[in-house]
Amino acid sequence: MRLSKFGKKFTGKSGILQLMEDLGAAAKGQEMIMLGGGNPGQISAVEAHFRQRMLNILASGDEFERLIGRYGPPEGGKPLAEALAALLNREYGWAIGPENIALTNGSQTAFFYLFNLFAGEFDDGSFKKIMLPLAPEYIGYLDVGLVDDFFIASKPEFEFFDNHLFKYHVDFDAVTVTADIGAICVSRPTNPTGNVLTDLEIDKLDALARKHDIPLIIDNAYGTPFPNIIFTQVKPIWNDNIILCMSLSKLGLPGLRTGIIIANERVISAISGLNAIVSLAPGNFGAELAYELIQSGEIINLSQQAVKPFYQDKVNRVVAQLQSELAGVDFYVHKPEGAIFVWLWFKDLPITSQTLYERLKQQGVLVVPGEYFFPGLQEEWAHKYECIRVNYALDNDIVRRGISIIADEVKKAYALTPQIKTA
Ligand SMILES: Cc1ncc(COP(=O)(O)O)c(C=O)c1O
Repeated sequence: MRLSKFGKKFTGKSGILQLMEDLGAAAKGQEMIMLGGGNPGQISAVEAHFRQRMLNILASGDEFERLIGRYGPPEGGKPLAEALAALLNREYGWAIGPENIALTNGSQTAFFYLFNLFAGEFDDGSFKKIMLPLAPEYIGYLDVGLVDDFFIASKPEFEFFDNHLFKYHVDFDAVTVTADIGAICVSRPTNPTGNVLTDLEIDKLDALARKHDIPLIIDNAYGTPFPNIIFTQVKPIWNDNIILCMSLSKLGLPGLRTGIIIANERVISAISGLNAIVSLAPGNFGAELAYELIQSGEIINLSQQAVKPFYQDKVNRVVAQLQSELAGVDFYVHKPEGAIFVWLWFKDLPITSQTLYERLKQQGVLVVPGEYFFPGLQEEWAHKYECIRVNYALDNDIVRRGISIIADEVKKAYALTPQIKTA
């Protein structure tokens, strides 16, 4: 089979492909502790709500038939956009309307669209890139460019805390916006680290983007007002130069592939055009299932009272376990401020994170090696190979077993004998 350049680029070895293949293989029956992928947890209050909503749809006249039997508009259905605009305006005092909202088939698709809208080759022969001002950043961005060499990233600054905790910050001395930058993008909360960029950092990035007349893309897949997997107090921000990307996935609907873009009307119209060409229209099931929650504002209570505490409790357990089982090891956990992962840094680890990943896979635990999370970072950096990302959304017992295996394997790698636990 002869493939085009596009075909080769999108079927070659990529971090995201390896991840999805591992997930697929494990899902086919291998006994694996799946701490690798981005699946959210199963939260009974959320599941109960959507089950009931589905039953209501099925019981209500021809609502189900209308839902499955029609294409929606290419920017996504208006009722959801109106309800969401009203909710955001009410909550945050913004002034957006349905014309500022478009849906996509998952926010992953939104990043494919947005990055290729603002980076790549331009009519005047110039070439622009997406700037990721704080590496590590989301693995899913890595391969979405239609052409190579798509990102430019900067190493972070470190802040250290007691009990093996640390936090990355944007190093604004290293972030220089030149003419070849087409947009700036950050995930907040950040996948893989659980970092939440401070309001000051976001304000500075916003000012920088405006100064250079390029958009600031904020990936809010885990943020407020839903799913609200964010454990610090920060100010939600939007203006007509910010493209805010949201998703229903981490609320508990990843199978329905619903992404939401909030942006100025020119961006929304571009997204609508892309949707029309790529998929005619975005799927409408997620929008319909979430409509009532958004319209009533109940989505805020559900996120605040069910989703956030679910993850907060889990991450507290994981961090405490790591601190106990890795005592004596020179390791750090990124301060968990949001998202559904812990980011572990094993300082001066004698093996690469890829080798650690392979060894853990042999032991039946899937994580993601850290080195994939640095798209656009040109310089070599040992730190890249000393980190792993661990998803903690599964049942507590399973996560506890997985963390123990990780701790033992890490200690072996440092050639430390696992501590013998005494009563
Ligand atoms: C930071 C971040 N952005 C975007 C996505 C894509 O999510 P979806 O396409 O399910 O909306 C993910 C998924 O894991 C993510 O972690």
